[in-house]
Amino acid sequence: MATSADRFVHRPNAIDRLGKTLVYTGELLRHPVYTRFLHWMVGIFFFLALLSGFGIYLPWIFRFFTPLFGGGAMTRLLHPWFGLGFVFFFALQAINWLQVMKWTPGDSRWLKHIRGYIIRSDSTESPETGFFNGGQKLMFWEIVCGSIAYLITGVIMWFPEIFGRIAVAFSYVIHDISALIMLFGIFFHIYLSTFGEPGTIQAMTRGTVSEGWAWTHHPAWFKAVTGRDPRQAMEQAETEMKAGKRQGSPPAVL
Ligand code: HEM
Repeated sequence: MATSADRFVHRPNAIDRLGKTLVYTGELLRHPVYTRFLHWMVGIFFFLALLSGFGIYLPWIFRFFTPLFGGGAMTRLLHPWFGLGFVFFFALQAINWLQVMKWTPGDSRWLKHIRGYIIRSDSTESPETGFFNGGQKLMFWEIVCGSIAYLITGVIMWFPEIFGRIAVAFSYVIHDISALIMLFGIFFHIYLSTFGEPGTIQAMTRGTVSEGWAWTHHPAWFKAVTGRDPRQAMEQAETEMKAGKRQGSPPAVL
């Protein structure tokens, strides 16, 4: 049972936590500060590029976006720089995640069961799911391909006098198809990271996840970092919860 002293222990706020990762008992470190910084820079530049892009591409529908960037001409001028910002930070993230994003035979098996995964007929992930699952890796590699396509076609459209009319026309089509594919994937990604899988968003805000989240969604990763069997850990936690034994303790600062 918590004592009165426990109740007054200082719980750090968002400002205290800035640039640090506090890992409480019952949690695991998921994403360190550098990864989180890159992720949110990617997110900011993605939405800046998206909103300015919509303002340019469909001005009759999205004309209310252009004043946000200082008018039509300014939006046109800024959009390629937002795009470059997105590609730059995503390239750093791609280097950062290259190792954990390698495709494995387990990911191909995961993809075969994607239907069950989407309609939630299985409550836990396959035991071989590691740090990222097949769907996350697929989205990552789609963004890698999309970023390369944006960069090449974007530069062509930026300097039409160098590349000529035909290359520019093709670039428009590829650039816009790429944006629509990525947009669809990102909305799905945001849904899964928030409402779809509760407890996921804190991986990118505080940098940690609960052990329960880890053994549910990434059992092989849980096993690799804790050395414990995910199923046994889950059963032990259930028993402890019933006996009222589980409680928090001061964090380790990483
Ligand atoms: C408000 C918007 C966003 C939220 C709430 C969000 C949330 C998250 C969270 C919680 C994770 C960690 C998942 C895990 O550890 O398993 C993650 C990972 C990731 N995010 Fe985001 N994200 C957002 C926007 C974006 C954008 C705009 C991009 C790129 C265009 C992006 C690309 C990624 C990638 C590639 C990963 C790793 C693979 C994955 O988990 O799917 N995110 N995001």
